[in-house]
Amino acid sequence: MNQRVQKAVIPAAGLGTRFLPASKASPKEMLPLVDKPAIQYVVEEAVRAGIRDILVITGRGKRNIEDHFDRSFELEHYLETKGKEEELKEMRAIADMADIHYLRQGDPKGLGHAVAVARQHVGNEPFVVMLGDDIMDERSQVLEEMLSVYEHYGRSVVALKEFPPSEISHYGCVEPEAADDGLIRIRDIVEKPAPDEAPSNLAVMGRYVFTPQIFDALEQVKPGKGGEIQLTDAIRILIEDQTVYGFTFEKGRYDVGNKLDYLRATVELALEREDIGPEFRAFLTDLVQREKLV
Ligand code: G1P
Repeated sequence: MNQRVQKAVIPAAGLGTRFLPASKASPKEMLPLVDKPAIQYVVEEAVRAGIRDILVITGRGKRNIEDHFDRSFELEHYLETKGKEEELKEMRAIADMADIHYLRQGDPKGLGHAVAVARQHVGNEPFVVMLGDDIMDERSQVLEEMLSVYEHYGRSVVALKEFPPSEISHYGCVEPEAADDGLIRIRDIVEKPAPDEAPSNLAVMGRYVFTPQIFDALEQVKPGKGGEIQLTDAIRILIEDQTVYGFTFEKGRYDVGNKLDYLRATVELALEREDIGPEFRAFLTDLVQREKLV
């Protein structure tokens, strides 16, 4: 059995330009999906997979994220005096669910750079990277299963999902080779290839388990696509040294990386809610008829 993975890194230092003006003074990771900030879904997913040590790589708007995961004595006191037990419990649970640490990235030089900043906190241990543009369904087991792959093989694992050629250029894309246990072995990986240059239809989703050797690889990476230090380019270097597995999944991922996908995710998540779901469904049905959408 290999070392258990105990740490997760959530890069949250991007400028969020796809969400302006909402992301002007508040990080896009704090945008709510129904009533919960996107980053809370990601933290809860880590906790469900047994990870409680979470490092958020921040840039601007750090305070909002920190405040969200901190106790709010004033609010708690207010809820207590008003007898709002449910809300009080929920607010305390947010602050207690994980040990969250924060590090500043400084210059936003890309995802690879953000992960490299985590080295001092992670040290010589395996760890998870979770990107906030991908939100997983509460029932999703993707992270747990990726961690089992790591525990079995002691090698890095990248989450993959099939996409049509027209969408592949939004993602990292891998050249796969069949491996044991329904896994694939990544032979090559490219960041956001043009559709006719994509080595397959398998796109990298924002969940990774890494051996600490990824940090050495990151040190060698030169600015790549978009002039940024790309995590994909570090994985490409890591492959020369160690097997990197791909874990393919189909369902349970919501893309919240741009406005349209964010709206789709909000609607789907709202429909799944026990409290507001039924009423919201009735509203949508009525809307479809009113607007003659079908
Ligand atoms: C990043 C990665 C990319 C990956 C994607 C998943 O891109 O660089 O390889 O496929 O996340 O969401 P970004 O969306 O930050 O441009």
